[in-house]
Amino acid sequence: MRQVFLAFAISLALAGAVSAGAMSVKDEMKTVVDPATNTIFAVGGEVDPANGPDAAKVPAARWAEALKASQTLRSAAAHLTGPQKQPGDVWAKSAADFASLAQAAEKAAAVNDGGGFSKAANDLGDTCTACHSQYKKQN
Ligand code: HEC
Repeated sequence: MRQVFLAFAISLALAGAVSAGAMSVKDEMKTVVDPATNTIFAVGGEVDPANGPDAAKVPAARWAEALKASQTLRSAAAHLTGPQKQPGDVWAKSAADFASLAQAAEKAAAVNDGGGFSKAANDLGDTCTACHSQYKKQN
């Protein structure tokens, strides 16, 4: 009985992974990466200790949003380094940086670490530019 349940759970997880991985880079950027990044940049500013004592007063619900957005980026990163991967060193490096910074943001958000979170948010922005400068048509 337990095995049947496990098999079912695994097949659901795989179905989810396949459908998300099959999304085009463009669609995932627009509907997943961009909104999550907006949240991360906004919270990154709010929790940055350099912005004074208010940074310590960010409510738990806001941290929860930051955590969720970081997890969203981490799964998008898994697509960029997996099914959506494109050839070239710049892709490999920027996608790997994106993955490790999403993970750093997630860890910082989980323990409400304002300094760590704002740094990860800032550094994350550089990975977007690095990849886009070579792989995204400039319009
Ligand atoms: C490893 C490469 C890579 C990284 C890292 C990356 N992107 Fe992208 N992004 C792309 C590519 C490629 C496109 C162009 C897709 C197309 O037009 O087919 C794109 C397009 C976009 C678009 C335009 C979508 C549209 O509507 O046309 C947005 C917005 C975007 N990215 C946001 C981000 C943000 C924000 C980050 C960083 C947090 C980021 N991307 C990181 C590869 C990347």
